[in-house]
Amino acid sequence: MFNTARRKLTAWYLVILMSVSLSFSIVIYRGMAAEIDRFIQIQRLRIERRFDEAGIPRPPITVDKEVINEIKQHLILNLLGINGIIFIVMGGLSYFLAGKTLQPIQEMMEEQNRFISDASHELKTPLTAMKSSLEVYVRDPKLTLLEAKQVLKDNICEVNRLQTLSESLLTLSENQLGNTNKSFVSLHLKTVLAKAYTLVKHNAMEKKIVVNISSIPQQKMRGNEGKLVELFTILLDNAIKYSPNEGVVSISGTKVKKGVELKVVDKGIGIDKKDIPHVFDRFYRSDSARNKIETGGYGLGLSIAKKIVGLHKGTICIESVLHFGTTVLVWLPNSAHFQNDN
Ligand SMILES: Nc1ncnc2c1ncn2[C@@H]1O[C@H](COP(=O)(O)OP(=O)(O)OP(=O)(O)O)[C@@H](O)[C@H]1O
Ligand SMILES: [Mg+2]
Repeated sequence: MFNTARRKLTAWYLVILMSVSLSFSIVIYRGMAAEIDRFIQIQRLRIERRFDEAGIPRPPITVDKEVINEIKQHLILNLLGINGIIFIVMGGLSYFLAGKTLQPIQEMMEEQNRFISDASHELKTPLTAMKSSLEVYVRDPKLTLLEAKQVLKDNICEVNRLQTLSESLLTLSENQLGNTNKSFVSLHLKTVLAKAYTLVKHNAMEKKIVVNISSIPQQKMRGNEGKLVELFTILLDNAIKYSPNEGVVSISGTKVKKGVELKVVDKGIGIDKKDIPHVFDRFYRSDSARNKIETGGYGLGLSIAKKIVGLHKGTICIESVLHFGTTVLVWLPNSAHFQNDN
């Protein structure tokens, strides 16, 4: 598909370039032909004047039309030759430029297709499981009310998971569009972290995990409060989810050059070295995370987190040692720096 588009674009570039080149050639030819005629006219007048000054009767002055036609034909051939060279050189250049023009579109479309196929795969798996279990129970004539209730309960769990997945996908595509910076306001990180903590408090309490939030810089930042709450909810959720019961999770902040650096630290299962470069990829889950059945997830949290940090022109990175714990480092520019950037 892209090869056809590239060829079409090359053809259009060539049509435009050759129209310009041929128009110039016509103008040059007309100008040169007029110049030749003018030159002959001047020469004739000069010769006539010399004869008149010498008082000699003028002989008939004739111009060899064949020579003039030959010169004009030479001119046409030269211009056609130059246009031929331009056609070949510009053809190659247009093909190259068409490729360069289409490259970002191609990458975007490939990314979009990957996203759609990943998302449909993730949606298909629980739907197929639900469908087959429902079909089995519907056909069972001995199904008791208690069993039927259990099936419905199990399916509600799957429906909840599907709801979380569709919400995450929606958030991801929203952040992809990058249209949230219009809602940037002045905010305090302390408030953001307090709100994020409220959302994960229940999970932490269930696992008897202590969440310490300490030394958060007082300065004001600019950002989308909802998105930043979401960012820290994702990071805290991971830290809690991948920590053992009765563990400790801590968030601390430091004022650094042009911004604030926040650290989310846990002493949980950690991430294998080979997995670290991929954890921000959509739908990526490390083997150790997959193996822990109770820590369900779709591998979307960190990709959403990365998009949110990107919207705020910050950076995010992960340091982790398998079985020892994980530290997520988020750098966010402070309001002054962010405003300068815009
Ligand atoms: N604090 C952490 N400790 C250990 N592993 C982590 C931690 N944070 C992320 N990971 C690893 O990175 C992977 C991707 O994380 P991400 O938050 O994107 O997905 P998830 O938690 O598996 O699912 P979701 O967030 O969509 O519910 C996880 O599956 C896990 O392997
Ligand atoms: Mg997660």
